[in-house]
Amino acid sequence: MTERTRLFAANWKMNLEAAQVDQYLARFTAGLRESASNGIELAFYPSAIWLERLLRELTQVSSAGRSIFIGGQDLHPESAGAHTGDLSGEQLVSAGCTSVLCGHSERRQDHGEDDQLVAAKTEAALRVGLLPVVCVGESLEQREGGQTKDVLQRQVSTILETVLRTTETQQLPPIVIAYEPIWAIGTGRTATPDLAQDAHAAIRELIRTAAGVEAARATRLLYGGSVKPGNCEELIAEEDVDGFLIGGASLDPDSFLDIISRCG
Ligand code: 13P
Repeated sequence: MTERTRLFAANWKMNLEAAQVDQYLARFTAGLRESASNGIELAFYPSAIWLERLLRELTQVSSAGRSIFIGGQDLHPESAGAHTGDLSGEQLVSAGCTSVLCGHSERRQDHGEDDQLVAAKTEAALRVGLLPVVCVGESLEQREGGQTKDVLQRQVSTILETVLRTTETQQLPPIVIAYEPIWAIGTGRTATPDLAQDAHAAIRELIRTAAGVEAARATRLLYGGSVKPGNCEELIAEEDVDGFLIGGASLDPDSFLDIISRCG
């Protein structure tokens, strides 16, 4: 039995309009009230314009055994300034957020975010007390070229080294790493449980090397990439899979609730 609390996170990406968000929240809160799942954590990353709605509605169904993080899909490394369209960690915290996604592959691709910038964003999140969920993962080309472990090593080490450098205690603060192989995102092509476990074990070993046994034991590793009710149970059964970061299936409250009740 793992002592890490399972975390099920919904990344809505650039989806859902006002009325759909309201419908979703009504259905999800009703379903969660009926659900028996306990001893888990949930997280929602909606478009920033909906954060306030989620904070208002979901806080009511958050409980000790089922706490809910709500956060942004991105943040700027600086705390304020002339950065049109961006959000700072300070702003997210002042709005009531408790978490943030860093370095999602879609931001790495669409906005040219590199490992250094992702590390700076992670550091900025920690500076203000947000739980960073940092995304890593290889492209299809990199996997087929046998470079998966090298890519993970580069991505994870840059983040850990940056974070540890600025931590006075030299202890790794609470951070979540989401392994999202790019070829599995939105493609319906999920990593097999073996393959996910293999990557997660490699990431945990990188944490152990950089930050020690305790940090490796405590840090949660999420899998993301076409997670659905039909494949979630075999993935969560893997030793180093501590939860999911879910895109498409999290847009339907019933399928997200289904995943939570199957794996929570
Ligand atoms: P899908 O679940 O739609 O494959 O998206 C995964 C993802 O990118 C979550 O951040």
